[in-house]
Formats: sequence, structure tokens, C-alpha cells
Amino acid sequence: MRSLDVVIIGAGAAGLMCAIEAARRGRSALVLDHSKKPAEKIRISGGGRCNFTNLHCSPANFLSENPRFCVSALKRYTQRDFLALVEKHRIPWHEKTLGQLFCDHSANDIISMLLRELEAAGGKLELGTKISGITKPDNRFRISTGTGEIRAQSLVVACGGLSIPKIGATGFGYEIARQFGLKTIAPRAGLVPLTFSDANRELCKTLSGVSVDAQVSFAKTSFREGLLFTHRGLSGPSILQISSYWQEGRPIKVDLAPATDVFEAFKVARKTSPKQDIKTAVGHILPNRLAEEIASMLKLGGRLADLPDKLFRKTADAINAWQVTPVGTEGYRTAEVTLGGVDTRELSSKTMESNKVPGLYFIGEVVDVTGHLGGFNFQWAWSSGHAAGQFA
Ligand code: FDA
Repeated sequence: MRSLDVVIIGAGAAGLMCAIEAARRGRSALVLDHSKKPAEKIRISGGGRCNFTNLHCSPANFLSENPRFCVSALKRYTQRDFLALVEKHRIPWHEKTLGQLFCDHSANDIISMLLRELEAAGGKLELGTKISGITKPDNRFRISTGTGEIRAQSLVVACGGLSIPKIGATGFGYEIARQFGLKTIAPRAGLVPLTFSDANRELCKTLSGVSVDAQVSFAKTSFREGLLFTHRGLSGPSILQISSYWQEGRPIKVDLAPATDVFEAFKVARKTSPKQDIKTAVGHILPNRLAEEIASMLKLGGRLADLPDKLFRKTADAINAWQVTPVGTEGYRTAEVTLGGVDTRELSSKTMESNKVPGLYFIGEVVDVTGHLGGFNFQWAWSSGHAAGQFA
């Protein structure tokens, strides 16, 4: 039986960062993962270029039942700290938009960087390892694996959430939490396309491939970013962002032309171009296919000079204040994150250690802290992994 200081389950962003930090402190640290390759999510992230952090990262970019939980870890290991690591490894990067930092070449640069840091610190990694059970009969954990039993003083759970099961996501982290009596918040898919039924689904299908700048709102939260019509519903950054807030059965509000007060624009155009057809006026505001579809749905036609304010208002509402109720989401198959997870009230915000079970830590996406789209989820993985790595 092997005996170690720290065993970390999950060779993703959080697990690798934690192992690097623990090993740097001289702890014997081993990362176990059932996948054959480490950090598969980093590899596919950001369209293959990994949006590894965000310059504007702050606690306001995270959802959690306890929004203050992330404050301490984010403060002690910031986006600037991670950027310094990226620069130390001379990885070329750029800011794409809204503070989002991406690799110039490939997400593999980030994975190689983490593996090099792990090796330099003396941490170990074992892939393709099935874990069949975990117990804590005394003051040490016993981890049963396909290759034998391992004893560890500290056990760090960094198994991630349920998103993208195809590349190894499982609910193992939640199972470990429950086994040791920790409460969990029900998981659900976040940063995920929304789906529709009936007429709205048909509309989306017809417009599939069209994208617009949009402001999408749910209750008091709104995001202004791109929106994309798909065969089954709506996607694009603004929709992914709002999906993390959306509650089933309730509508979202979509402004398809946030830069234009459409009602006012029609009134101005009536004065400056009275002979202009209203369909042409809509075409000046929206992409062609979308403009044509809205004109056909509302049966628009006629010179602006001949049309009443009432029709302007109805058309403006369809564009600036489209209310639509999703039937669901595309689910974990495509979701970028899993909301919910280990209840933060069970953990120390300074160390990520369980309040009930000494030596048991939870970090990264398995915890009930979920970031907005834009590099925030990786920053949480780095910050929470770093925090646990100082104590595990
Ligand atoms: P992560 O899921 O990365 O790692 C968990 C590890 O645990 C995996 O290696 C898995 O194999 C292992 N594991 C699971 N069950 C196990 C078991 N039973 N036994 C052993 N090992 C097990 N975020 C961001 O900030 N910028 C971005 O650009 C993107 N892009 C992006 C694209 C796509 C397609 C997805 C799906 C997600 C993103 N994200 C993102 C989100 C980001 O990838 C995610 O939040 C982090 O990877 C979470 O890091 P963790 O280390 O917590 O889990």
C-alpha cells in the first residue's frame, strides 16, 4: 500500500493547480484521473484556444448560493497571478473582447505549462485510474484503485461537474461529498443553449445560422453579447450567459437591436424618408434574413408616411422586447458548466477544506461556484486549486 501526503482526484484545471502548489510546499502529491489524457476540458476550451482567465474577474462574475464564498480565494490568487505564470512560460496570448484572454496558438500550451510545473515541483500524475472506493477508517484516507490501495493524509476532490460526459465528466465528486455527509446543491446545466417548442422552434429553425448583437434579460440580470439562432433554439454568448440564471417555465426578454430604439427610428425615418417601405426600414436595423422573417410574421408593408404609430410600436416591441419562453436547455451534452455542487457552507473559504471532515477538500467546478462565460470558470479553478494547495 502506498502512502502519500495528498491525493487529488481529477487532473483538470483545479486539480493540477492544487497538486503543483502542494508539491511546491514539499508535500508528496499524486493526481489520479480515470481519463487517459489530462485536462481534456482545457484542450477543448475556448474553441481550442482556451480562454484561460479574464482581466476583469471579480466576485460579481460568479453564481453561488453564497456569493461571498469565492472572494477570499479570488483575492489570494488573481487573474494577474495566472497571467504571470503564462508569461513565465512565454505562451503567446491576446485579449479577444471584454477582458477575455486566449492563447494565440493552442489550449495545449496551457496543459503543457501545468504538466511542466507539476513535474518541476515533484508532483505525480496517474491517468486511466479507476477509483472504486474511498474510506477514512482513521486519520488517513484509503483510496481503492485498480492498481491497489493508496493512503493519504489529505484528499482533494477536483472531479468537476456533469458537463460533457463524452470526455469523462461524472458525478463522482458529488457522491464523495454525500458519502462524507456534506450537503450538495442540486446540479443543473449552465452556459448552455436554450431550446423551444412549436412556433418559436420553427422560427429558430428558419433563421438557423443568423447571428445578431442582442441584449438578453431574465429578471434583473441581462447580458449584451452575440445571439445565434440554431435548429432547436437560441445560442451564442448572450444566451449561454442568461441560461445560468433562467428558471424553467419563465420567459426571457430579447432585444434584437439594443443599439436602436426602433420606435423612435421609425418616427425619424417617417420624416426623413416618408416613401420608404417599413420592410426596408426594418432591413436597415436587422440582418436581412431576420428582417424578412419579422416582416413576414407581422405582415408588414406600406410607406412609412401612411403607417400609424400603433404599427411602429408593435414592430418595435417584436424587435426591442421579444418575450419568449424556452422549454428547456440542450443539457449536459453541450453545457460548458454545471451549476450547483458541494454546498459552500460545508467548506472553509480560505482553505476549501470540509468543516466536518478534516483533510477533505473540494475545489473547482464540483463546488457551488459557477462563473460567467469569458474565462471566469478557469480563474475559479486556478484560485480554488491554489487555495487548497497551500493547506492540503
Ligand atoms: P474539470 O472538468 O476540468 O476536470 C475534472 C477531472 O476529473 C477530469 O479530468 C475528469 O476526467 C476527472 N474525473 C471525473 N470523474 C472522475 C472519476 N470518477 N474518477 C477519476 N477522475 C474523474 N471555462 C473558461 O474559463 N474558459 C473557457 O474557454 C472555457 N471553455 C469551455 C468549453 C467547453 C466546451 C466546456 C465544456 C467548458 C469550458 N469552460 C471554460 C469551463 C471549464 O472547462 C471548467 O469550468 C473547468 O474545466 C473546471 O475545472 P475542474 O478542474 O474543476 O474540472
